[in-house]
Amino acid sequence: MNILLLGSGGREHALAWKISQSPKVDKLFIAPGNAGTEQTGINVAIHATDFDALKDFVVYNDIHMVVVGPEDPLAKGVYDYFKNDPQLVSVPVIGPGREGAQLEGSKDFAKAFMMRHQIPTARYKSISAGNLEEGYQFLESLEAPYVLKADGLAAGKGVLIIDSLEEAKKELQQMLEGMFGDASKTVVIEEFLDGIECSVFVMTDGIHYKILPVAKDYKRIGEGNTGLNTGGMGAVSPVPFADDLFMEKVDERIIRPTVEGLKAEGIDYKGFIFLGLIEVKGEPMVIEYNCRMGDPETEAVMLRVKSDLVELLEGVAQGDLKDRVLEEDPRAAVTVMLVSGGYPEAYEKNKVISGLEAVSPESIIFHAGTKNENGQILTNGGRVIAVSSYGANKEEALAKSFAGANQIQFDKKYFRSDIGFDL
Ligand code: AMP
Ligand code: GLY
Repeated sequence: MNILLLGSGGREHALAWKISQSPKVDKLFIAPGNAGTEQTGINVAIHATDFDALKDFVVYNDIHMVVVGPEDPLAKGVYDYFKNDPQLVSVPVIGPGREGAQLEGSKDFAKAFMMRHQIPTARYKSISAGNLEEGYQFLESLEAPYVLKADGLAAGKGVLIIDSLEEAKKELQQMLEGMFGDASKTVVIEEFLDGIECSVFVMTDGIHYKILPVAKDYKRIGEGNTGLNTGGMGAVSPVPFADDLFMEKVDERIIRPTVEGLKAEGIDYKGFIFLGLIEVKGEPMVIEYNCRMGDPETEAVMLRVKSDLVELLEGVAQGDLKDRVLEEDPRAAVTVMLVSGGYPEAYEKNKVISGLEAVSPESIIFHAGTKNENGQILTNGGRVIAVSSYGANKEEALAKSFAGANQIQFDKKYFRSDIGFDL
């Protein structure tokens, strides 16, 4: 079969790496891809949200399945676009429709969904310009720190955690006045939860589901989880505290009600559900939903999926996921992300990347923000390269990834050397 994968980050390179190993695949295309994905498939110069161009490509290249990496095309309705087009309706899209994508695209929707289905999450109130006073009152009823979330997609930047009540009130007002554009016209105020986080990934065909290996990502730029939030500086899988007992609770209280809730509400959801969870005194609670895989978690999780991913994706598309096998690799996998100096604030691009070939074959290099210009690999984003490795345990895997991270060179390279420190 021929598969088209949408996206251009490290997550997509990891998905492409895994998909390309399947004997079921004839051709794998990635739109638009990066300098890494072209080692595992064929890059196509089409933006993931240019649906008309994607349509032409799918029709002329006999594509049998579209796998969506990032949230943007899902929130913009790529699933619905295919479903409503007679020439595309027979091509399955892995990823939810616009409605289901609201689990990520609207924090207000996600919170109300969790309330309707009794899924454990922080107490909250949704505020818009009309009920600002209520927002102030709710803030006064909470203890510091205060969590303010832009309702809509804000490129991972829409969450503020604030220590002082006065500051929180001020920020709430500024958010409503457009600090994050339309995304913060509604703001979700949440009770702060204190605990340790992990990322749980579910594949669902809308009825059945499979749980992928659990991972933990490291979001802050600085060592010891300090400094600004980033897209993610590294990941570790498995996660020791997400043991069988914890995962049973996650399954029973969170995953099952989520999948059943979507179905009960008539939301057709075939794709990945990413649960951002926090463990509070041994109990799992939902911090957020995403409608896609995580980045950089995917760069670790794909190493631990032993089964043929395409076989599973077919199960999602055909509604027989329950008959497919998901086998986990018992080894640990870790990912260390190399980023451009300055990221997540201003940084430079077009730096020559060298030393990739010097990295031990025991590590797998996933490109995130790179491009190939006349055979030279150049930096092309904040997050540049993910170095993933297997190990008998996380320490062994980390040692390999850090060695790889030191081999690769580009001007102002930075990475966190404490990934996994808190596990
Ligand atoms: P989100 O985009 O909702 O995942 O929020 C980004 C990050 O903010 C999360 O990964 C958490 O570290 C933190 N966060 C979000 N909501 C809460 C909360 N209610 N309590 C504590 N931390 C939170
Ligand atoms: N690693 C977090 C995310 O993908 O949103």
